[in-house]
Amino acid sequence: DKGNYRHFMLKEIYEQPEVIGHTLGSFVDLTTGKTRLPASASIDFSSVKRMALSACGTGFYAALVGRYYFERYARIACDLDVASEFRYRESPLEDVDLALFVSQSGETADTLASLRHAKAEGLQTAAIVNVDESTIARETDHVLPTLAGPEIGVASTKAFTCQLMALAALSIRAGVARGRISEAQEMEFTKTLQETPRLVNEALHLEDQIDQLSREMATKKHALFLGRGFSYPLALEGALKLKEISYIHAEGYAAGELKHGPIALIDDTMPVVVIAPHDRSFEKTASNVQEVAARGGDIILLTDRKGAEAKVVDEAHTIVMPRMPEILTPIVYSIPLQLLAYHTAVQMGTDVDQPRNLAKSVTVE
Ligand code: M6R
Repeated sequence: DKGNYRHFMLKEIYEQPEVIGHTLGSFVDLTTGKTRLPASASIDFSSVKRMALSACGTGFYAALVGRYYFERYARIACDLDVASEFRYRESPLEDVDLALFVSQSGETADTLASLRHAKAEGLQTAAIVNVDESTIARETDHVLPTLAGPEIGVASTKAFTCQLMALAALSIRAGVARGRISEAQEMEFTKTLQETPRLVNEALHLEDQIDQLSREMATKKHALFLGRGFSYPLALEGALKLKEISYIHAEGYAAGELKHGPIALIDDTMPVVVIAPHDRSFEKTASNVQEVAARGGDIILLTDRKGAEAKVVDEAHTIVMPRMPEILTPIVYSIPLQLLAYHTAVQMGTDVDQPRNLAKSVTVE
């Protein structure tokens, strides 16, 4: 039931503050502020030095954020593959202590096959899944449920942000277990994570502004998404979201890759969405924004108050996000990207919940 919403996708976008909070609750004891694992998992992170992450589509981008989290906060080295490549890459897996899969449906054929491959190789396996009676949930050693509830829209929204929340909390759990995060820091992190529902809610208030921008986006044939560090996976996800429901050709790039090719595409017909919270990579990304501006590109800048005050370029559509600690930026900056894709698709009159050629869960390889 869509309730008062025009599409399931929009309803699911608005469910995020609540379901992200639920998901957090299974990884953090909200009364003590300590991280924990859900009852269906018993991973001993103290002995995990290397992980192999694998997933498809949006789940893969969540895993890419996960890699940044685990490497930074837990100092666990992460290999990462799209699931359709994992089995064929013939990577030596002897040093891998845990294989982690990410899947909303728990039925994606490539991800399931990768899980089976990992098990056959004798690896310990864990899966972040949204459907707890799914095949992947049944076959993995450890189940890490996201509590997003049923996701009907083919374009994944709330499942993605719940995956990010699970990954953020897990990386802190792992950091504590590995002695990289003190008890006091753990408390600080879990307090921060509890701010997410409120910040997501604030980001949802930007809907009208983003709706305005979508009117112009809907007239375009191509779009570029750029981000650095924690925002790089979001550039990829923002581009996927836009292309899958509006059919506008969109590419996501690490901002630093701009001058290695894609800059050749920039002229005054090219919209460039830049995800740039004022974090440790801001200055670098800002110089990429100036390179785009110098070539007449049409910039949509997602940043915060500090980033906006930096006045990187004269002409940009700037969406001012709330300020937040770095760990939260991938989750909260997902919201404007989802809304941009959604409103652009609505403008174009495409079938938002059931885009052409796509299935909600891809059960063939
Ligand atoms: O159910 P899964 O998370 O395993 O699905 C993986 C992809 O098929 C899925 O994320 C797909 O890319 C979405 N349509 C993206 O919005």
